Amino acid sequence: MRTATRALWSASRPTAGDPDPCDDDPATLADLQRVVDELAARGTGARLVLRSPAGEPRVTVSAGEKGGAWIWLSLRVIEQGQPHCQSGAVGAPILIGDVPTGAILLSCAPGASGLRGHHLANARAAAAHCETILARRAAQRLDMYAAADGMLRMLAAHDPATARHAKTVRLIARSLGHAACLGPRDLLHLELAALLHDVGKIVVPPDILRKNGPLEPEEWAIIRAHPAVGERIVRGVPHLAPCLPAIRHHHERWDGHGYPDRLAGPAIPVPARLVGLADAYEALRAGRPYQNPRSAEDALRELEASLGAQFDPGQARLLRALGDAADPRGDYARRTLGTA
Ligand SMILES: [Fe+2]
Repeated sequence: MRTATRALWSASRPTAGDPDPCDDDPATLADLQRVVDELAARGTGARLVLRSPAGEPRVTVSAGEKGGAWIWLSLRVIEQGQPHCQSGAVGAPILIGDVPTGAILLSCAPGASGLRGHHLANARAAAAHCETILARRAAQRLDMYAAADGMLRMLAAHDPATARHAKTVRLIARSLGHAACLGPRDLLHLELAALLHDVGKIVVPPDILRKNGPLEPEEWAIIRAHPAVGERIVRGVPHLAPCLPAIRHHHERWDGHGYPDRLAGPAIPVPARLVGLADAYEALRAGRPYQNPRSAEDALRELEASLGAQFDPGQARLLRALGDAADPRGDYARRTLGTA
């Protein structure tokens, strides 16, 4: 039962050679741009081409003259993982974990004197520098996954149902993030925030989490502390800092009657609104000790009725993505309840 859900999470983990979905990370891009600028300052055009997650080469940063058939050259360099020279341009591969991930290309302006041997040496040195920058970024990303995984395992040891809920909320939040047109970096942070949104429940006694009936006021007080506790736990991992607003604010309400800070309307961070919607949908679909599971149609109807009160009314169009995420009931049950 646990194997199925664990495999879902593991299968989405990157390896060191994967194209980085975070290559839009501003700090990484700034470091890469500096490398390319230094090359261009020596009088050639310089480009850094990286494989997109779909495998297509695309210029990530560039500087200087734009001469040279860089598309064909970059394809050749990346496919073969070897340096190449052609008329007016040279290219050196960027390898991450032996996987050709991109290329540094140098080109001269049409009519300028051709490239010489030292240009290829420059390209290779710059490619090695980029490899270091990208490998550091990949290591940070793996650290984020490892830290998230560790926290989720602790939560699973405390209350397996809450951990299973978190894994499903992550999948639903990913569908919402795609529908909301989030970029790859924001999407990754949204997924991790969704996975960790309830990690603060590690301080809630299991008998409260599993209580089959109305909670006493003091029990509610303990439950309502979990977003702030979760934020404090996750804050200990600096790379997960972008996930903190969604973790802290996933129980805020559009009308200002949520918790912990009673934020209202647009003051609620967008990722928190998305995690809140995914969380509510999953709770309705999976059911709770005091509530039977609802059909996808029923759940969507209830969420729709709460737009403008609990949820951002602008999220109406996202409900369609929730419908898409609500895949056939058997599959949903297998993922959520581990019944396969
Ligand atoms: Fe929560």
